Amino acid sequence: MKKLFILLFILSILSFNLYAGGGTEDLTPTQASEFSSYASWTKVNGETITGDITGFLGAAHERSKGFREIYVNDIGQPVEFGNQAYPFPEGSIIVKESFENNKGSKGDLSNLTIMVKRESAYSSDYGDWEYIMTKPDGTISRQGQLSMCIKCHAKSDYKDYTFFDSSM
Ligand code: HEC
Repeated sequence: MKKLFILLFILSILSFNLYAGGGTEDLTPTQASEFSSYASWTKVNGETITGDITGFLGAAHERSKGFREIYVNDIGQPVEFGNQAYPFPEGSIIVKESFENNKGSKGDLSNLTIMVKRESAYSSDYGDWEYIMTKPDGTISRQGQLSMCIKCHAKSDYKDYTFFDSSM
């Protein structure tokens, strides 16, 4: 009887864990190795981006004086280039480099900011995007449903929470 009780106890813990496994917190965070080769992906912008081309930049991404380059992986490429409708498919990754302004020209890389399209239900209210910020050397400093990123990118919900596209 005691054994049966222990078995039931273990089973209940196991099933609870299975259930809890559906929560966002338990979904595996994206690893740096999944975007480290971004420089060989498709570049979305032609000219280096500077100024506030969308009117939404505020204090983010090195502000309007910074310089920015945006890259997309093969999964997200057709949407960025207008050959497939929003939303981006799961597995899309967009990487943005932000550079300091060094006396009017591109200075050092400040960070990468990244959006990864996750499985549905990752953050269904905000398009299932995982937001990532790196240090200048590309190692991840923050990631997840970062509210500072979401607050601003939510203003572009009609473009699946992205601001830029290849036609700009
Ligand atoms: C105050 C608004 C604002 C905040 C905060 C912000 N962004 Fe952006 N983001 C923009 C704008 C505007 C663009 C368009 C490109 C440009 O002007 O540099 C952009 C572009 C991007 C892109 C390229 C895809 C796109 O949307 O065009 C990525 C990736 C990105 N941001 C990630 C992030 C991450 C990660 C964070 C949080 C660490 C963040 N952003 C915070 C405004 C913001």
